[in-house]
Amino acid sequence: MRPPGPILITQEQLAVRNQELGAQISADYAGTTPVLISVLRGAIYFLTDLTREISIPIHLDFLAISRYEEVSDTTGIVRITKDLDVSITDRDVLIVEDIIDTGLTLSYLIRHLERRRPRSLQVCTLLDNRTRRLVDLPVRYTGFAIPDVFVVGYGLDWHEEYRHLPYLAILEEGQKPTGKPAAGNKPRMTN
Ligand code: IMP
Ligand code: MG
Repeated sequence: MRPPGPILITQEQLAVRNQELGAQISADYAGTTPVLISVLRGAIYFLTDLTREISIPIHLDFLAISRYEEVSDTTGIVRITKDLDVSITDRDVLIVEDIIDTGLTLSYLIRHLERRRPRSLQVCTLLDNRTRRLVDLPVRYTGFAIPDVFVVGYGLDWHEEYRHLPYLAILEEGQKPTGKPAAGNKPRMTN
């Protein structure tokens, strides 16, 4: 499949960064069995590659969410459509995300998970778009800080398309296959 626009992060860069992050996480969590929690579906490519670079025991679990169109853009309030299967009480929890944009979704999820009293709760995100951040978040691990562009591939989609590209490409106005281009602004997406 051809990239829809310029490639921002190559497969080789992703592989190197996953090794570095995996080694760092293995060292930081040595002696524990953290639960890595991922939000379906954007983060699954990152999660499966990252975890294969982790050399300590880990457990995996998943959350699925959907946004309330009218309120989620400003509040981050989302509906949990699939909750965790394992208990995280007294566990070391690492949330694995694809991209933090405004940060609203993740800050809502952190509040939701903190109610279950994990021993620790940290965030690992593949991409960080800091220019769009609306809420301050404690992000322990970041793959790449990126400029304010819309990216697809390696799990990230535009209306469900492009997730299976093995690299990250920039989707520019005029290249979007479906849907209405946002008026001069970065489009809001579901996970
Ligand atoms: P926010 O941090 O609450 O604004 O939302 C982040 C979510 O929006 C991510 O988990 C992605 O699912 C989606 N998203 C944000 N930026 C992009 C992008 O550039 N490409 C694809 N999805 C994105
Ligand atoms: Mg996501």
